[in-house]
Amino acid sequence: MASPVHLSHGLWTHPLDQRHRVADIGFWRELGSLLEYGTFDELFLADVLGAYDVFDDGLGTAVREGFQIPALDPLIVLGALADATDHLGLVATFSTTYEPPFTFARRLATLDHLSNGRIGWNIVTSYLTNAARNFGLADQIEHDARYEIADEFLEVVYRLLLQSWDDDAITADRDRRVYAEPDAVRYIDHVGSRFRVAGPSLTAPSSQRVPVLFQAGSSLRGLSFAAKHAEVVFVGGSTLDDIRANVDAIRAQAAEFGRDPDTISFLAGAHVVVAETEQAAREKAADYARYRTPREALTQPARTPDLSRYEPTELVEDIIRREDHGYRLLIREWRPGQTVGELVAKAASSRKGIAGDWSIVGDPVQVATRLEQIADYAHLDGFNLSQDVSFESARDFIELAVPELRRRGLARSSYRDGETLRERLSRDRSGARPHPTHPAWQVSSPVR
Ligand SMILES: Cc1cc2nc3c(=O)[nH]c(=O)nc-3n(C[C@H](O)[C@H](O)[C@H](O)COP(=O)(O)O)c2cc1C
Repeated sequence: MASPVHLSHGLWTHPLDQRHRVADIGFWRELGSLLEYGTFDELFLADVLGAYDVFDDGLGTAVREGFQIPALDPLIVLGALADATDHLGLVATFSTTYEPPFTFARRLATLDHLSNGRIGWNIVTSYLTNAARNFGLADQIEHDARYEIADEFLEVVYRLLLQSWDDDAITADRDRRVYAEPDAVRYIDHVGSRFRVAGPSLTAPSSQRVPVLFQAGSSLRGLSFAAKHAEVVFVGGSTLDDIRANVDAIRAQAAEFGRDPDTISFLAGAHVVVAETEQAAREKAADYARYRTPREALTQPARTPDLSRYEPTELVEDIIRREDHGYRLLIREWRPGQTVGELVAKAASSRKGIAGDWSIVGDPVQVATRLEQIADYAHLDGFNLSQDVSFESARDFIELAVPELRRRGLARSSYRDGETLRERLSRDRSGARPHPTHPAWQVSSPVR
């Protein structure tokens, strides 16, 4: 996140940490070139549209801790990174709940042009009440209604980016004085229950047309949204069996939507501390722990439920259906049919806690072995790595873990020139555009 703290609570106080520099464009140049040196797939930026003012002291805790405030606009940061890098995929979060789709589709396509097809969009519906209050609302729009808005928002984006311009519209023919062929550009005339958008799109087709769609919804509605739209899913679960079950469930549901389920990729969150030896890695993890904000609870009021409010026998899915939990009830830790009591017992025995990523501390061989085991068992395509200390966490991973992963054939050692992010990430490597079975095409006339 373009903020001193996303999930590395307190670690901005570590003497080596550079996160106080996030408003300096040099920070992003340095991070971009480091990640390209490590041949990472992409850089992912989270985002929120409001402050966490849910603590006893209102804004005080979040502001004092640099907890997701101040925060820069990630789409603009991607613009800077598009210039600072040549190969790295660039993924930013944007919420479908508050701003209209027309301007967003234009910004997304602009970034995809400027980066030569390296953009991804993490689709979120937002979960902070303060965000609602920044857009003229007294409170949040009801949870499932936010996903309904998201569905129509996506339909507008698909139509603008796929239907409005033909691929060969721009001829830039000086002799005929025709820049773009008028027959090849059209209105979309979208009239829905939430949006009315005439079009045409102001942007001509970029190489991916629709940037790669990421999603991490965890409610039942969020999961079905992922099954319908997502090409890359941030999947969770407190055990490997849970992750695998979530992957398989989303794939099965995607097939029901008529999609080829093998075209969806799955990433789990992972948190890696690696050093030359296991002992050194443990010491490094202990050093980080000294700087971590002791209030482990920092994110709790906003992100996790107070499960003691419910009967242990109550089904978790009933609570989610009944109440507007947003991010607070993390499905990553529950499965259909599970009770509150079972969820609490599992969270207590889990190495990850209710909202954690996979935490791996070790030497390069241990780290690579563990990542490989997790990915193989849970049918994952990769990991979304979080940084404790910027840039030390990324540098350690690149210098120590990446060579071992390369030796095992699990990480690339160079980029393919001109490859779009979709070509890099899609399991079938089928092309720069969404797969033919993706619903983006169902709302669109065929691109001529
Ligand atoms: C890896 C990951 C990154 C996420 N990033 C964001 C984010 O940047 N902004 C946000 O509002 N929600 C983010 N989320 C939350 C979800 O995308 C989703 O909006 C949230 O869980 C609420 O939907 P749900 O009720 O379906 O769970 C993230 C989740 C995961 C797992």
